[in-house]
Amino acid sequence: MNWEAFPPRVHIQEVVTRDGLQIEPRFLPTADKIALIDALSQTGVSKIEVTSFVSPKAVPNLADAREVARAITRRPGVTYVALVPNLRGAQEALDAGMNELNLVLSVSETHNLANMRMTPAQSLAGFRAIVEAARGTQTTLNGSIATAFGCPFEGAQPEPKVLEMIENFLNIGLHSVTLADTTGMANPRQVAHLVAAVRRQFGALPLTLHFHNTRGMGLANVLAALDAGADRFDASLGGLGGCPFAPGATGNISTEDLVHMLDEMGVYSGVDLARLLERARALPSLIGHDIPGQVAKAGRSGDLHPAPTRLAAS
Ligand code: COA
Ligand code: ZN
Repeated sequence: MNWEAFPPRVHIQEVVTRDGLQIEPRFLPTADKIALIDALSQTGVSKIEVTSFVSPKAVPNLADAREVARAITRRPGVTYVALVPNLRGAQEALDAGMNELNLVLSVSETHNLANMRMTPAQSLAGFRAIVEAARGTQTTLNGSIATAFGCPFEGAQPEPKVLEMIENFLNIGLHSVTLADTTGMANPRQVAHLVAAVRRQFGALPLTLHFHNTRGMGLANVLAALDAGADRFDASLGGLGGCPFAPGATGNISTEDLVHMLDEMGVYSGVDLARLLERARALPSLIGHDIPGQVAKAGRSGDLHPAPTRLAAS
């Protein structure tokens, strides 16, 4: 591990109100979503994935996308993102004044059919139309490759297939790329290899890593990605999240656990961990169940406890 070569700043991109809420058993009231996003805007995260403009039949929890996008307070310096699957969603997201559209497809045909009800090639054709629709606006376009590190139906996805999809994204005019480990199948060695390959082939392309902690490898994967030259990570408050159309999906890496690890290692993210922990600790009462994130429960490494009284000198 080359600690000295770590990036001077790591960007944290919060996805709890999109990835986090899409799989929750209950609909979080619109006013609570807005309040949560407004609080997250004060924490120092670089981007917030606010919602998805998708079919309300596919993801009922995000059926209030338009209202949420309209009502949040936009803080300068924060990029407000919405996930879109097709041209219709993109048009609605552009109308809602999103700063960035996150165009998602799976490199695995089977998962794309399950999630988006079309082939990856059909998704890509839709993205071309979105590039046209966004032309002349200030809105940036990020392309996300889901199941980039493995698909719950097909298994491993060959690295050249993933690299070819990045090439396709750049050829049609997308500005940045996310590699998403939809169901936590990535391991650190695989991550290091793929990130290094992307850096070799695409240089300084803005690249985000989106990890799920389904098999406990989430933060190890972050470390491997950092070492290979990545500096942007999606993460979800409390570690909520998961794709409703991927069997066995569980939460993203937890934002507060990630920021705690970076803080402890002296890697700057600009995120205020105390504020983040406050919101993470408020999540269980908001969503009605415990959260997977660990630091919200354990406290920071530096939160010391009083020594047992029996040790006191008498
Ligand atoms: N936003 C809102 N509604 C949309 C929409 C969008 N972006 N795109 C399509 N719809 C509506 C259609 O109007 C139609 O409504 P109706 O049944 O009331 O007439 C319905 O959704 C189905 O439309 P169709 O074009 O036939 O789409 P589909 O059923 O083949 O589904 C998607 C395709 C992409 C819209 C759907 O699979 C989807 O939204 N997937 C997103 C899944 C997701 O978010 N997964 C987790 C994140 S990775
Ligand atoms: Zn995800």
